[in-house]
Amino acid sequence: MAWNIRQELPGDAASVEALVEECFGPGRYAKSAYRLRDGVGPVAALSFVAIEEGALRGSVRFWPVAVGSEKSLLLGPLAVKSAERGRGIGIALMERGIEEARKSGFASIILVGDEPYYARVGFARLSAKRIQFPGPVDPSRVLALSLQPGAALTLAGAVRRPHIDNPVCADGAPLGAG
Ligand SMILES: CC(C)(COP(=O)(O)OP(=O)(O)OC[C@H]1O[C@@H](n2cnc3c(N)ncnc32)[C@H](O)[C@@H]1OP(=O)(O)O)[C@@H](O)C(=O)NCCC(=O)NCCS
Repeated sequence: MAWNIRQELPGDAASVEALVEECFGPGRYAKSAYRLRDGVGPVAALSFVAIEEGALRGSVRFWPVAVGSEKSLLLGPLAVKSAERGRGIGIALMERGIEEARKSGFASIILVGDEPYYARVGFARLSAKRIQFPGPVDPSRVLALSLQPGAALTLAGAVRRPHIDNPVCADGAPLGAG
């Protein structure tokens, strides 16, 4: 293993965005999870990159969310360069983020994704309809992880943005621009 995981720095943002675009394409903006990211920044202390020979190999970010009246985190996007997949980078990025989230005092993490993959780091399906995303999601892909005992089991209600950092128009432009 020659890659190294470190916190994402401001100078990484452009290459992280390019990697996410390469992995998910423009269609990602239509997903429910993106409604929770509109106008809200990721948790900087929980954004990690995998670097090898000076090049970005993978990235993970977490967004702050509220579920009902509880604070939680939304994991993703998680993205690994296609030529570098299957080397453990994705799992290692998530493990680092999960460890730091626990240390930071977060009680739970939620995500929308493939259960067989995310189960490798402890995620499990939430009972159907316990939490409601702002748009359609496949209930079998709604997963959660407790960082404090039982925390994911009590999550219930609407998933929403806990605050808005940068108000944007419907077309994504900052309010007041142009
Ligand atoms: C999903 C992704 C992050 C995995 O990264 P990775 O670095 O290859 O993952 P790892 O090397 O840590 O783990 C690889 C293992 O997970 C398995 N795996 C990968 N994606 C999987 C999935 N969607 N479902 C089930 N298993 C999966 C692989 O088969 C491999 O299994 P093995 O260890 O038994 O060979 C990467 O494929 C990717 O960037 N995909 C495109 C973006 C995406 O779908 N992101 C996830 C949604 S947020």
